[in-house]
Amino acid sequence: NAMLAWQRTAFHFQPQKNWMNDPNGPLYYKGWYHLFYQWNPDGAVWGNITWGHAVSRDLVHWLHLPLAMVPDHWYDINGVWTGSATQLPDGRIMMLYTGSTEDGVQVQLLAEPADPSDPLLRRWAKSEANPVLVPPPGVGLTDFRDPTTAWLNPADKAWRIAIGSKNQEHAGLALVYSTEDFVHYDLLPTLLHVVQGTGMWECVDFYPVSAELAAGVGLDTSAAPGPGVKHVLKASLDYDRNDYYAIGTYDPATDRWAPDDAAIDVGIGLRYDYGKFYASKTFYDPVGRRRVLWGWIGESDSERADVLKGWASLQSIPRTVLMDTKTGSNLLQWPVVEVENLRMRGKRFDGLDLQPGSVVPLDVGRATQLDIEAVFQVQAGAAAAGSVAAGAEAPYNCSASAGAAGRGLLGPFGLLVVADDSLSEQTAVYFYLVRGADGKLSTHFCQDAFRSSRANDLVKAVYGSSVPVLTGEDLSVRILVDHSIVESFAQGGRTCITSRVYPTKAIYDSARVFLFNNATNVNVTAKSIKIWELNSAYIRPYPDSS
Ligand code: FRU
Repeated sequence: NAMLAWQRTAFHFQPQKNWMNDPNGPLYYKGWYHLFYQWNPDGAVWGNITWGHAVSRDLVHWLHLPLAMVPDHWYDINGVWTGSATQLPDGRIMMLYTGSTEDGVQVQLLAEPADPSDPLLRRWAKSEANPVLVPPPGVGLTDFRDPTTAWLNPADKAWRIAIGSKNQEHAGLALVYSTEDFVHYDLLPTLLHVVQGTGMWECVDFYPVSAELAAGVGLDTSAAPGPGVKHVLKASLDYDRNDYYAIGTYDPATDRWAPDDAAIDVGIGLRYDYGKFYASKTFYDPVGRRRVLWGWIGESDSERADVLKGWASLQSIPRTVLMDTKTGSNLLQWPVVEVENLRMRGKRFDGLDLQPGSVVPLDVGRATQLDIEAVFQVQAGAAAAGSVAAGAEAPYNCSASAGAAGRGLLGPFGLLVVADDSLSEQTAVYFYLVRGADGKLSTHFCQDAFRSSRANDLVKAVYGSSVPVLTGEDLSVRILVDHSIVESFAQGGRTCITSRVYPTKAIYDSARVFLFNNATNVNVTAKSIKIWELNSAYIRPYPDSS
């Protein structure tokens, strides 16, 4: 549908058509990054799930490849579902994934490259031993899916994998299996972890991060636990469709993991992203010495619109993941550095003063593909005076708020992106400060899509959360705008928000960017605003399939 063609993105990964969901088995092999993904060959809604496949040299430009795996055995005829890759020390790749059988039972399956000398890994051989795992006693036949990348247990030198499930009391949990050959498995008597009330854990991810102060590098999934190493456990919660993580400690002697802070355990604490972001998966990139996160970004429009436009879903910008050693309590996510190679013409605005109630247009030309880095300072005196006079304010909650239109003493202020000249369409990316009863300021980072489109059959929400701001830090945000997606990273990636937006007027050459300050009592200085137009990535069809 040509009318909706502008909604396709320019540098986010998308198949040429149809439905996509989870990223699967990301890995680096012989010079290429591989991305597999859940894909429906027959339409723009979920179903008939196969593994789509694409390769890249730099995580930005992609070449589509033929389907890696299709439902063609009794054990995966209802879908080749989500899985993860493990690269063995000898270079072999073990691809473990879930199959939905002819009876709709969830089983785990093994596949290996049929031709390991092909750097593109185009052909996959399903194991003769499949299914290698079936639901164990006491586990629901449809509550057993999405095996993780395997890690080596340093105590007994055998591999471990985790598989998400839930128990009869609606607690989410991760089972652990031990294996030496990826064909035979032993279920361990203890769970990796369990959290009451969180329901089915989909797409569990489990990996080490360096907690060394100046680490800056990622760790291989099998990096040995020890001082200076923390483990991240992530689950995708079926019931609220969000990806929750927690940082904690893995004990190889018991194969259990415990959160550093039980009050922010998996499913009740931190999220990778407070917007549209689900079923994510990381992999270790040995070349970049980094851990890279992919997430499935669904649509916020109607299924009818998806069928009309002939496609649904994007993948997030691949994000580097590190432990935030300054706060010690959260991760940092940041677009992989290669995205910066797409930067073209850049503009810079320094020291703009934003009075309460002001909106300032930024002349950047075409504003549908942007990379923005903005730094704000709140006028300290005014902030203190304004709120002392008024006393403590009520706690703020982005998603229960009136968004950018709701005025407080010290917020909202930030940027309006994918906006038209008249501001009849706008997506606000903003900070909102609140002084609590203890006199301390807390900072909230939100993204408001209430006015993102004049169209109606859309989910328009304010997303967001609080963001840690340490003494002496300015407020900063990086925003990637790509036609129908706004993906934002506050304070170096401590809090991230992704929104899908479907403007009808703020498209092509009509899209604009503004700064705004809708706080009543504070002057804000836009200390530095850098905006680059981003080039389109090459995302090319496979020569034989076009
Ligand atoms: C998550 C998920 C997985 C499953 C796959 C099926 O979105 O439901 O649990 O393996 O998608 O497409």
